[in-house]
Amino acid sequence: MSNFRKLDDLNDVAGKVVLVRVDLNLPMQDGHVTDTTRVKASAPTILELADKGAKVLLLAHFGRPKGQRHSTMSLSLVQGAVEEVLKREIMFIPEVAGPVAAQAIGILRDGDIGLMENTRFWPGEEKNDPEFAAAIAANADAFVNDAFSAAHRAHATTEGLARILPAYAGRAMQSELEALDKALGAPEKPVAAVVGGAKVSTKLAVLKHLVGQVDHLIIGGGMANTFLAARGVDVGKSLCEHDLTGTAEDILDAADKAGCTVHLPYDVAVAKEFAANPPSLRICNVHEVAVDEMILDVGPQAVEALGDVLKTCRTLVWNGPMGAFETEPFDAATVALARTAAALTKEGSLVSVAGGGDTVAALNHAGVADDFTYISTAGGAFLEWMEGRELPGVAALTV
Ligand code: 3PG
Repeated sequence: MSNFRKLDDLNDVAGKVVLVRVDLNLPMQDGHVTDTTRVKASAPTILELADKGAKVLLLAHFGRPKGQRHSTMSLSLVQGAVEEVLKREIMFIPEVAGPVAAQAIGILRDGDIGLMENTRFWPGEEKNDPEFAAAIAANADAFVNDAFSAAHRAHATTEGLARILPAYAGRAMQSELEALDKALGAPEKPVAAVVGGAKVSTKLAVLKHLVGQVDHLIIGGGMANTFLAARGVDVGKSLCEHDLTGTAEDILDAADKAGCTVHLPYDVAVAKEFAANPPSLRICNVHEVAVDEMILDVGPQAVEALGDVLKTCRTLVWNGPMGAFETEPFDAATVALARTAAALTKEGSLVSVAGGGDTVAALNHAGVADDFTYISTAGGAFLEWMEGRELPGVAALTV
């Protein structure tokens, strides 16, 4: 999808007030921001506009305050972290609309950056109230959305504003949309998808959509156990959603009809207890899992075979770990397959796009995050995109 307005289409911004929706929903511990990846992602957009002389107003949500002010969710708490990344002083504005906001904006000089308060302090944000959006828009000339990770929300500052003001995708949003298009929009075939994670129930819609889109669906993590059980394998004490084996069978049937090959592990790492390097650890065929054992990772032979599958593919989309990767040695399959994907990407034979939830942590752990073609830091938005759903924040930018 390339039919959206970009920052290149926004000219003559000097002296103009530009609202920039960013994602500042940052992880915090003991009052300190622990990861500024999302700020770094939007820094080019913010600085480009400021350097062109715009008065840049950052809009973002933080946590889920449900329409009320909460001091623990004030965006003033992340101001320092944003300033550190941007290497600029910014002005905190404790409102998003009304006379106080207007007065503060009046003080900004060309090229200055203001950070407005948590948009979710006002009920109009999540209700996508047009009056709320209009009150914010009243102080501005243009709207730039650089928060793909919030684009699955049809809120006033992710969707509503784009209907009122001239609206553009920021640089981070643009790269994200272009990368996602390469992965599932108009991908080079064959396409493989790796879907892992604990539960089938959280990714049903993703799996159902992917079987009609990809040539190879590689299922790992706890959710593979439900598929194995659907195929009649006794998975012992493994995490398994037995009530969903019928649904898993339907997905396998749909894949069959669509010509999508589903890859389930045929050897696995099992143990009697879930702990690091447990004495009961062993590798076995999936048909040899004992009643008191649990499957905690995909086995080495299956990983090698999956690596061979990736070698035949041109595009890979990855969501979720292959095993309990936070506990050694159950990170082995995720690390090995991620390294194969990274090597193929480096060689130029694979376009690899990954994102969602634990995925970034898993690929960082494998030390390959920089070698993938694109890694999305979006959680829910990435999953909804993998489900083939239209994201309201993106749709509103489309021309
Ligand atoms: C995220 O952290 O994934 C986004 O900022 C969206 O947050 P939300 O799930 O609270 O809407």
